[in-house]
Amino acid sequence: MTTAGEVIVLMVSLSDQHDGLWELLDSDERERANGFYFARDRYDYIAAHGLLRLVLGRQLGVDPRALRFGRGRHGKPHLVPPTELRFNLSHTHGLIAVAFCRGRDVGVDVEAVREASKIEAIGRQFFSPEEVEDILALPPADQRAAFFRCWTRKEALIKATGMGLSLPLDTFRVSTGFAIVPRGQRWWRQEGPRCTQWSIMDVRAAAKGYVAALAANGPALTASQERPNPIADAGAAATCWRFE
Ligand SMILES: CC(C)(COP(=O)(O)OP(=O)(O)OC[C@H]1O[C@@H](n2cnc3c(N)ncnc32)[C@H](O)[C@@H]1OP(=O)(O)O)[C@@H](O)C(=O)NCCC(=O)NCCS
Repeated sequence: MTTAGEVIVLMVSLSDQHDGLWELLDSDERERANGFYFARDRYDYIAAHGLLRLVLGRQLGVDPRALRFGRGRHGKPHLVPPTELRFNLSHTHGLIAVAFCRGRDVGVDVEAVREASKIEAIGRQFFSPEEVEDILALPPADQRAAFFRCWTRKEALIKATGMGLSLPLDTFRVSTGFAIVPRGQRWWRQEGPRCTQWSIMDVRAAAKGYVAALAANGPALTASQERPNPIADAGAAATCWRFE
């Protein structure tokens, strides 16, 4: 059971086998899974939502199949009936991240670092002007990584607030830098006036070629530690990070 204040992030690589997760899904989730055109997307969705149920069921001490979900005004999923346990999910091809905690709002985002030939154009469309300047001031070889760091940090924040893209991405600023600290992670406070109570940390991705970030309200996140995988006994391989 997670304790007050801490935030746990599980990263699960989809190259691992995850049998039996379909059985955990409810009829809505199965219908959504069956709606994907590409098998890869369907598999990602089944694995992400099955693992989410497994993790939350463990936390609450209930059968994962018994969990019910609702969605907030902008689509953020939550448990029904509401409990202290909050969570957020991110999945991209090959990797899933689940963040959870008690009594704090959390957001997590994981992205594959892809070719990005239009960093400046995309940045000017979505990021704040200061973020674009920060990225373009870096040596060209470092710009792509900074772009994706910035992207995941911003996404984690808009997901933590629950506002999603209704919080325009160019209205707040995150750091784009990379700090050399233990495990390559860093926290900082948002500089935008609407975001001062949020803090963000990079999360070490469980697979090469991905970046991930976590955002939460409440006390600033300051440190992370690797923890034993809490769903190992269910046969699910995961890397677990504890933030406080
Ligand atoms: C939720 C959102 C913010 C992020 O989506 P994403 O990065 O594409 O996908 P992720 O895998 O990280 O997150 C999706 C999950 O977040 C959760 N989610 C959905 N709406 C959410 C919201 N408003 N707040 C928090 N979480 C939300 C859901 O669990 C969803 O999973 P599901 O669709 O399987 O149920 C979405 O609104 C979006 O469309 N983003 C577009 C990204 C973009 O264009 N960014 C521009 C460059 S920065």
